[in-house]
Amino acid sequence: MAYQLRLNLSFDVLESITELTPPEQLLLQAAQNATHQAYAPYSGFLVGAALLLHDGSIHTGNNQENAAYPSGLCAERTALFGLSALHPDKIMQAIAITARKQTESEFRGATPCGACRQVMAEYENRQQTPIQILLQVGSATFYRCTSVRDLLPLQFSQSSLL
Ligand code: THU
Repeated sequence: MAYQLRLNLSFDVLESITELTPPEQLLLQAAQNATHQAYAPYSGFLVGAALLLHDGSIHTGNNQENAAYPSGLCAERTALFGLSALHPDKIMQAIAITARKQTESEFRGATPCGACRQVMAEYENRQQTPIQILLQVGSATFYRCTSVRDLLPLQFSQSSLL
């Protein structure tokens, strides 16, 4: 028997920075600033991630590359692991992600890789509160998702191991 499964991915498309709320604009700015400390001598692709915590504070991360390529880590996981290592009980409200080329000043954005989505899903499930995701996907285009579930359907999670 053949089954057809339809997955509805829902997200807002924002066509100008002015469509972002003021707190979203601040978070995006923190992610953009974080690209300045990225270490990406091999790809020249600088990624910044900024996490807004429930207490209003912001924790950032950026990609950290390595001459042994797979040993490097994406910006999103640098931010998430760094925060969780220091403050395992803090609730994450939102994450903003952006990117630019080292040779260009304009931000072009990026969507998170599969491994980063998996790690985001783990922390969202752990805190049992959705994490809003704000992605810069073009110089003036942004996607807003209300949960990691929107980016990673059919998750493999802790409950899969039971
Ligand atoms: N990168 C990230 O930091 N986040 C992603 O979600 C995709 C890719 C980094 C990894 C590597 O340092 C560079 O971008 C090029 O792949």
